Amino acid sequence: MSVKQVTEGLSGVLADTYVLFAKTQNYHWNVVGPQFHALHVMFEEQYNELFLAIDEVAERIRQLGSKTPGTLADFLKLSVVSEVSATSAANMVADLASCNQKVAERAGTCLKYAVEAGDDGTQDLMIRRMAAHEKASWMLRATLGDEPREASSPVAAPARPSKIAKTKKPKGAKSAKSTAMPVAVASTPTKGASTKPPKSAKKKGRVAMG
Ligand SMILES: [Fe+2]
Repeated sequence: MSVKQVTEGLSGVLADTYVLFAKTQNYHWNVVGPQFHALHVMFEEQYNELFLAIDEVAERIRQLGSKTPGTLADFLKLSVVSEVSATSAANMVADLASCNQKVAERAGTCLKYAVEAGDDGTQDLMIRRMAAHEKASWMLRATLGDEPREASSPVAAPARPSKIAKTKKPKGAKSAKSTAMPVAVASTPTKGASTKPPKSAKKKGRVAMG
């Protein structure tokens, strides 16, 4: 990989960051609804972070000896972030989550070029940009309550721990529940077991402490 590919990768990330900055600020201004204050503040934090990143990425391109894209037309041409804007608060959040993920992926591509070119400075910058966009995307998705699903029955799942805490054995419950409980009971000892160190672990512990 050549320096040219690294600077092209950086130019893409710069363009994405600029368009995402404008979009995030647009949403900061135009968001409405019950979550107005929280979203207004979060969007401001995010566009401020993007604003600082724009300068750092652009100056990295200059340090590598290339001219940096610097017009809005350049940025729109090079960016994978669409200028199309959402209108509802929920769609704004979902849109920004998706855009941040896209920019993280572009930074990842640029990172690969930098690794192959042996360009440590760009690697460091792209790792930090990936982390920033992944964090922003996570915060936005969390705002929507979009979490990975651990159980197929989210209604039944929270009830199990309290029942288990009160009674180790399930009382004469309905057949549907009684078949579910042993699974839950069976799963708790493994959690509890980890608090009781096995004999071998105690021995190891002594050795380690000594
Ligand atoms: Fe403001």
